[in-house]
Amino acid sequence: MHRFVLVFVFFASVHSQTDILGQLHICKRSDPKLNDCLKSSIKGALKILASGVPSLKIPSIDPIEVERWTIHASDVLPYEQYYENLNLTGYSDIEIEDVYTNVGDEYFSIHLMCSAPKLLVQGDYAYYLVRPTKGEDLSSQGTVEYKYDAHKFFVKFDGDIIKKGGVEYSEIIRTDFSMVRLRSFEMTFQTDHQRIGDKLGELVNGGTRKLATINMGEYEEMYAAAFQRIANAVFASNPSEKLLPK
Ligand SMILES: *[C@@H]1O[C@H](CO)[C@@H](O)[C@H](O)[C@H]1NC(C)=O
Repeated sequence: MHRFVLVFVFFASVHSQTDILGQLHICKRSDPKLNDCLKSSIKGALKILASGVPSLKIPSIDPIEVERWTIHASDVLPYEQYYENLNLTGYSDIEIEDVYTNVGDEYFSIHLMCSAPKLLVQGDYAYYLVRPTKGEDLSSQGTVEYKYDAHKFFVKFDGDIIKKGGVEYSEIIRTDFSMVRLRSFEMTFQTDHQRIGDKLGELVNGGTRKLATINMGEYEEMYAAAFQRIANAVFASNPSEKLLPK
């Protein structure tokens, strides 16, 4: 009996996937408190869409999955840093602190100030030394994990209203992501020769301040690309008139 009920609930939830947008709190462009409305609407949407909606091609938001990303070597960290199969966890629990929107007939902008109590990133890494270094060569591969506490970030989506078969859709053309505050950033590496992994951790964590100014841009681009991919999947799932009616 128990098993039957579970199976039924499972099927019921799969079938209601396409109605998921009916669960979202929709805000009207004409709402004089549009930005406040969007604050709670977006927060709610992150929870409702957390595990993604395969039938609507909306990818998972918690975790956000990043197939691969490369951070280039710098003077402070002379390694090419390849990441694969990254899971970015914690995005269904973020706070939307502030929203700014500007929706025209042909373009739109949505700016979000967000804070995240706890974020965790896990995946595979490979670091390769590409510049001469005074220290030991710590080139290695394995798994990596890093955490952020009390993180604050600003995301700026700018896009166009486009027509598909006479129907208007919103499409983001450009996304800017900036780290506003980052506390207690710590990266750990697991590899076959753990002595190397530990030294890599010391190198990266020891120089966090310096790295923050040199390498952050490429991490910001990774987040911007991931956020744009997800937001565009949501926008492509329904006409603008449904998601943000006039
Ligand atoms: C990432 O998340 C997916 C789905 O939630 C899971 O199957 C996979 O094992 C995770 N990978 C890592 C590296 O944590």
